[in-house]
Parts: sequence; structure tokens; C-alpha cells
Amino acid sequence: MHNPAAETASVSATAQASSPLLQVNRVSLQYRTASAVVQATHEVSFGVHPADRFVLLGPSGCGKSSLLKSVAGFLPPASGEIRLDGQAVRHPGPDRIVVFQEFDQLPPWKTVLANVMFPLLASKTLKKREAAERARHYLDKVGLARFADAYPHTLSGGMKARVAIARALAMQPKMLLMDEPFAALDALTRRKMQEELLALWDEVRFTLLFVTHSIEEALVVGNRILLLSPHPGRVRAEINSHQYDLSSLGGAGFQQTAQRIHRLLFDEGGAPPAAAEPPINFGDVRFSY
Ligand SMILES: Nc1ncnc2c1ncn2[C@@H]1O[C@H](COP(=O)(O)OP(=O)(O)O)[C@@H](O)[C@H]1O
Ligand SMILES: [Mg+2]
Repeated sequence: MHNPAAETASVSATAQASSPLLQVNRVSLQYRTASAVVQATHEVSFGVHPADRFVLLGPSGCGKSSLLKSVAGFLPPASGEIRLDGQAVRHPGPDRIVVFQEFDQLPPWKTVLANVMFPLLASKTLKKREAAERARHYLDKVGLARFADAYPHTLSGGMKARVAIARALAMQPKMLLMDEPFAALDALTRRKMQEELLALWDEVRFTLLFVTHSIEEALVVGNRILLLSPHPGRVRAEINSHQYDLSSLGGAGFQQTAQRIHRLLFDEGGAPPAAAEPPINFGDVRFSY
């Protein structure tokens, strides 16, 4: 039976898949201090598609956090523009939730459940009963259903991180923004959190913009990686990395790619790989200088 409505729906779903959810166009970011203007990024462009795990990778000071702040709506570009779903980003909004590194931002006097409910209530997104229901749903997804009534100080660092992620996901934002979220965790917990983030993504398919200065973490977490040059940040290259996950760690292909990224990030002048090098592994590489 012909169903024009279903046809239209599938056509618009296809159109959506091909246009980026987030468009960052030639964005330059600056800080004005009393004595100087600090240029944080120079004309950075990239696009994030729905369900991407898009990573901003570069050395300390290259403007990763500034870009994330700008996408979140806290730092207006000095030039260029940022669009989410076609709308210019001008302010912070509940459609972009930032998960910070300091999980101790969880108010200690609120239970885990109350912590996850809080943004839903504060933003008047849901009434109390629905907020509790949604909070429990996401606590279950991050494996903390049994800890709903616990207080944050009784949780490990990894568990606090999961609460923070559940709290962000409960708002059902268009994008989740994470700035080095696991940097403060010990190496084993960090690996575990990367694994859990990927498992969560498998289940929820959220769209992620993730900042890190770790090449290894970028390869494990991301399906696409934007490489930024040192201060001020410019786009060096954009690569596909969906073929890597935690099981690739230590493998020859993974090591080779990590070394190549290292060279792209740090080689003087950032020359493209010489023709004599083995064929580049990335599906599509976009170089820019
Ligand atoms: N609030 C600020 N005032 C002045 N300069 C800043 C401020 N925040 C960041 N910067 C500068 O902007 C540049 C980029 O910083 P940042 O985005 O934090 O880099 P990253 O996250 O990649 O380490 C750095 O040179 C940093 O010193
Ligand atoms: Mg930073």
C-alpha cells in the first residue's frame, strides 16, 4: 500500500543524515585581557553529524576548550559562525549539555537520583514524577540503578562520572559536550570509563563532541578526529577513526596511526605525509593549513 507520509518521513531522515547537526564555520576565538588580545583559534571549520563521536585533538593551549565553550554558547566567535540544526548558536541552551572534568560538582547533599533529576526540574523540562522516572531510566543505563539513593561522597570517581553522564543524558540534549572528562581519573578507571562511554553510545546513540589531548583516547573514543595545531588552533587534518576501539590498543595498525597523528600534530610546518610513506589508513583525510 502506498503511504506518502512514510515516504516523506524517510526522505527527510535521509536529508538529515547528510547535513551536519553542528556546523562550525571558520571560527576564530579571542580573549581580550587588560593588556592583550589572545588568539585562541584561527578559522576552524568542522561539521558534526547526528550520532558522531567527534573528537577535538591537539596540544594544550590549542583552543580545544575554547571551541567547546563556543559551541556551548559561552564564548561568541570573534569571526565565523556556529550553527546547530541550522540555527545560529548565540547562547547556552538545554540542547547542548557540557560534562565537565570536575565530577565533584555534584551537590553532595543531594542523592544520586536527586542529582540526575535536578536539571530536569530546574529547567522545568519535566514535573517531579516524570523527572524521577527519566532519571531512573538513565541511571539504569549507566548501571547505577542500585545507587539512586546513595550520596555522591560514597561513590568512586568512575561512578561519579557515570552520574554526571546520566544527568546530562537525562536532558536528552542534541549534543553532549565533554572536555577531557576522564583526565582526572587513574589510568584503569579512565580505560573503564572510555569503555562505558562507548557502550552507552551503542545503546543511546547520542551525538558527542569530545575534547582530549591524548591521541590514544581520541582514537578509542572518536569516530572522527579533528587535529588542531598548537596555539592558535588551526585545523591540521580531519580523519576517520571508527575502525578503532579499546580492543585495537597496542595493535600494529593502531600504533602506526597514532604515530602518524603525532607527526601531523607536531612536525614543524605540518607537511602532509610524503608519498613514500605507506598508504594512509584513513577513509577520507582532509588536510588544511
Ligand atoms: N579566560 C581566558 N583569558 C585569556 N586567555 C585565555 C582564557 N582561556 C584560555 N585562554 C588562552 O586561549 C588559548 C586556548 O586555551 P584553551 O582553549 O583552554 O586550550 P586547550 O583547551 O586546548 O588547552 C590559550 O593560549 C589560553 O591561554
Ligand atoms: Mg582545555
